[in-house]
Amino acid sequence: MYGPQGGAPTARPARKITVPEIRARKGGTPLSMITAYDFTMARLLDEGGADILLVGDSLGMVVQGHPTTLPVTVDEICYHGRAVARGARHAHVVGDMPFMSFQVSAERALENAGKMIKEGGFESVKLEGGEEVADHVRRIVAAGIPVMGHVGLTPQHVHAMGGFKVQGKDVEAADRVIEGARALEEAGAYAIVLEAIPPDLAEEVTAAVSVPTIGIGAGPTCDGQVLVCYDLLGMYPDLKPKFAKRFAEVGEQIIAATQAYVGEVQGKSFPAAEHTFKPSGIRRSLPDARPAALVADEIPPHWQTH
Ligand code: KIV
Repeated sequence: MYGPQGGAPTARPARKITVPEIRARKGGTPLSMITAYDFTMARLLDEGGADILLVGDSLGMVVQGHPTTLPVTVDEICYHGRAVARGARHAHVVGDMPFMSFQVSAERALENAGKMIKEGGFESVKLEGGEEVADHVRRIVAAGIPVMGHVGLTPQHVHAMGGFKVQGKDVEAADRVIEGARALEEAGAYAIVLEAIPPDLAEEVTAAVSVPTIGIGAGPTCDGQVLVCYDLLGMYPDLKPKFAKRFAEVGEQIIAATQAYVGEVQGKSFPAAEHTFKPSGIRRSLPDARPAALVADEIPPHWQTH
């Protein structure tokens, strides 16, 4: 079902990958998770073979242009979730619980997780934190909502951490990461994101829990990897974390395509005949002139406004 090492993913059934199937990938074929924020990108990433699409609160930075993820709201996550869910035929769609949507109490966490499932089209939720959020995870899982955990660099703690910095670098901090992951597993999390921690610590965490670990800046021994789609595609130059391998330079292509478009508009070589509808002939009152309605019929359906 999955491609050979380093190769392109092979054809998969056009049905959803389930949470039990994700759990069963522990120690098996690594999981590929990518963030997505809209229908078109979700459909492309799904077609490319992503197992999981994450509507991350990173959208606050890469879509909305904020310096942190903190301003993102549950309603915004749900708005993007509905679009991504429409594009995901195979990939599991998980939604990030934004800052202050789950920290206040287990009840608030459950309410907001429920809202994300009902209104955002999500199949599970992800939240940041270790032992301190274990009760919240337990409560959400008890309601039948699968939860993905997230330890290590947790961007919602950016101010407390003094920036987006590698975590778990001393014994005490490393122990906190391991204990956090164990607490999440014990609370019922089905997978755990490990962000920006040393690879040997990630290996230890991966061995310490029975659910898949999904790394971002956590080395190669995790049970899966996750990247922000705009990093993977080379479209977000503002931050260049060491782990964010650019698999393409789509940003450069977009700039080049835009320059070509602007040049052709200014030089009046676009639109050419092949991009132009047939003249209506109405002004010349030709005998075979077609009514404007017929011309409108040739416009692709998704361009038609009425
Ligand atoms: O918000 C996000 O995109 C994330 C991933 C980087 C794991 O949490």
